[in-house]
Amino acid sequence: MPSAPLAVVTGAEGFIGSHLTEALVASGYRVRALVQYNSFSSYGWLETLPADVLAGVEIVLGDVRDPGSVRALVTDAEIVYHLAALIAIPYSYQAPHSYVDTNVTGTLNVLEAVRHAEVPRLVHTSTSETYGTARTVPITEDHPVNAQSPYAASKAGADLLADSYCASFATPVVTLRPFNTYGPRQSMRAVIPTVIGQVAAGERAITLGDLRPTRDFTFVEDTARAFLAVGTAPADAVLGRTFNAGTGGEISIGDLVRLIGKVMDTALDVTADEERVRPAASEVMRLVADATRLREATGWSPEHGLEDGLARTVEFFLDPANLARYKTDVYNI
Ligand SMILES: NC(=O)c1ccc[n+]([C@@H]2O[C@H](COP(=O)([O-])OP(=O)(O)OC[C@H]3O[C@@H](n4cnc5c(N)ncnc54)[C@H](O)[C@@H]3O)[C@@H](O)[C@H]2O)c1
Repeated sequence: MPSAPLAVVTGAEGFIGSHLTEALVASGYRVRALVQYNSFSSYGWLETLPADVLAGVEIVLGDVRDPGSVRALVTDAEIVYHLAALIAIPYSYQAPHSYVDTNVTGTLNVLEAVRHAEVPRLVHTSTSETYGTARTVPITEDHPVNAQSPYAASKAGADLLADSYCASFATPVVTLRPFNTYGPRQSMRAVIPTVIGQVAAGERAITLGDLRPTRDFTFVEDTARAFLAVGTAPADAVLGRTFNAGTGGEISIGDLVRLIGKVMDTALDVTADEERVRPAASEVMRLVADATRLREATGWSPEHGLEDGLARTVEFFLDPANLARYKTDVYNI
């Protein structure tokens, strides 16, 4: 019997990476999971996956900033999903060099490794933040890029490198550009876990940043399916192209908090916290996706509505074993 194809996932221990790892194993892949080397020997969220899933996962500790670790990682892979990144916008104001090292140089290392090992496909992860505040809605992939934070700039730089490798060396890259993703295991740096986590910990006075910006929220299992969709579509349908992954729905942060209150059956009192407000020119006021290109190329469409996905997320955070992994009483950047 032929052995299962090998998929490499960087950032596998993180929020989206752990869901993608599960989805890949469920689809018949062996997964080689890059977990960032750390002194606790922590495998992040991979530690919480069921034993039958972990049986299909080889965990490798390493770092995308180190070219040697990445070269060894991709050997024999059928496909590489590159998700490892520093992702928090507030922390990118404090430590921008680390964002360039991880997101730009790290991606360059992955591109070089994939090129030299002749891996047949690389899925590179971008973000809707690269568009900045929408100039036209919904946002198609032809919308101009306008990086309003060091995080967005580092991701846009990585995207350009990916495009340039495709043009210069015919490296088989496809770029997936997820809009805001939410669900179980997301860190408290993001708005939905921040609200749900504070409520689950007994708070009713919720502190947040600006309530006016709008976002297009996609449930993490749908985002993981979008990765699989671009990873498995025929090469001529996806290689060298960028695809938005989003629902096309739009909600303000203020209305989102009200919806979470409804799902949790609790009235919430929201206070704006100056510390959490981004500098005015750095705040992305509006993001809403046009994912027509992804649907036409792969058949992908989201399966979860916002209320349904929020209910799944609430269920996760209400489990005391899960909540114990979070710090709900501090501002997590
Ligand atoms: N969460 C979202 O809403 C969203 C939206 C659009 C795009 N993205 C992109 O999706 C990807 C995954 O994001 P996430 O939300 O799961 O965040 P996450 O922080 O949970 O996952 C990122 C992972 O990368 C790892 N990592 C960081 N530096 C590393 C290094 N030097 N070497 C190896 N690993 C390293 C981290 O340990 C972490 O597990 C990122 O590329 C992010 O830019 C996320």
